[in-house]
Amino acid sequence: YAQSGEDARPTETPMSSAHPVDVKTPAIPAIRWAEPPEGPVLVLLDQTRLPGEETELVCTDAPALVQAIRTLAVRGAPLLGIAGAYGVALAAVRGFDVDEAAGAIAGARPTAVNLGYGVRRALTAYRSAVADGADQELAGAAALAAARALHREDAEASARMAVHGLALLDELLPGGWHRILTHCNTGALVSGGEGTAFAVALAAHRKGRLRRLWVDETRPLLQGSRLTAYEAARAGMPYTLLTDNAAGSLFAAGEVDAVLIGADRIAADGSVANKVGSYPLAVLARYHHVPFIVVAPVTTVDPETPDGAAIEVEQRGSHEVTEVTAPYVPMSGFEAGGGIAVAPLGTQAYNPAFDVTPPELVTAIVTEQGVVSPVTAGGLEELRSAPRL
Ligand code: MRU
Repeated sequence: YAQSGEDARPTETPMSSAHPVDVKTPAIPAIRWAEPPEGPVLVLLDQTRLPGEETELVCTDAPALVQAIRTLAVRGAPLLGIAGAYGVALAAVRGFDVDEAAGAIAGARPTAVNLGYGVRRALTAYRSAVADGADQELAGAAALAAARALHREDAEASARMAVHGLALLDELLPGGWHRILTHCNTGALVSGGEGTAFAVALAAHRKGRLRRLWVDETRPLLQGSRLTAYEAARAGMPYTLLTDNAAGSLFAAGEVDAVLIGADRIAADGSVANKVGSYPLAVLARYHHVPFIVVAPVTTVDPETPDGAAIEVEQRGSHEVTEVTAPYVPMSGFEAGGGIAVAPLGTQAYNPAFDVTPPELVTAIVTEQGVVSPVTAGGLEELRSAPRL
């Protein structure tokens, strides 16, 4: 086995060098655990290479996973939770220091609450196995079982969110022929299943009720154009890409029936942290009397974070704004250099990865446990603490 930190860069396995990829080929899973002889390793679809290349990253230790999380090779709240849990299992199964690995993985990005949740879940399973007298191998197996359970539960949650979300759309928008605006990426690339907000749009499409999916490109890292458009194309959905700043005129033209987004953390009061650019959409939606719907598993609700002001918003490097790369490749990850400059040398950029939408601008929060609308602290807590369906 590789020693921890020996090579923090995951191994790359090119699957295709075609550009753009053929969306008719079977999708590569966003994450998979590989047993021997390939493993034990954690294999990620490198999301920084999409849509140009479908390339897998093989993580043999926690530092490699931390690097993949920071560069957004693996990203999106629910998938970060799953990756965090597998990362702890990886450290345990390969005989590394599990506490050290758990701390490093949980600290790789601050905003998505699911990352810490996934890490804690596998760590708790590992520690309780150790407390019961298990050796490292058995305790590693317990951590892996916890990660697999989270992966499976996320897929189930995704399916249930799609059902609840579609029912809500039909209730809010009688006539059922929807034009949905979405932001960032919330499909199978962020989930054990078909995702959160995207899963709802997909369910509408399968029922023949999606008239158009409007896809915000999502500056600066283009999760909308690179990833959501890729997933929509794969699914054969009617979609149109727009720059983030074209959303206002789209609302003004009466072309949006509902906004559907995911969430990285939902505070106890119902404030929603999601990809930067979500809050302006909520303001636009309110002005134009359009429902603004957040779709997220209950694991994204964080009772320990009282309100929006308490949510830590990740600030990322200036170079993500001052440089572009084509196709998008984050070069050395989070260090400047390698891209084409689109601002004078030395320009500082304001680059928060997320923003926070207050609960009064959110029409409804859809979870696998049901829908909260209007969004209140009491309603959220009731749903979060209800027995799992
Ligand atoms: O910075 P990213 O790409 O990890 O941000 C992801 C988002 O903001 C998603 O919208 C969010 O995680 C919800 S995914 C179900």
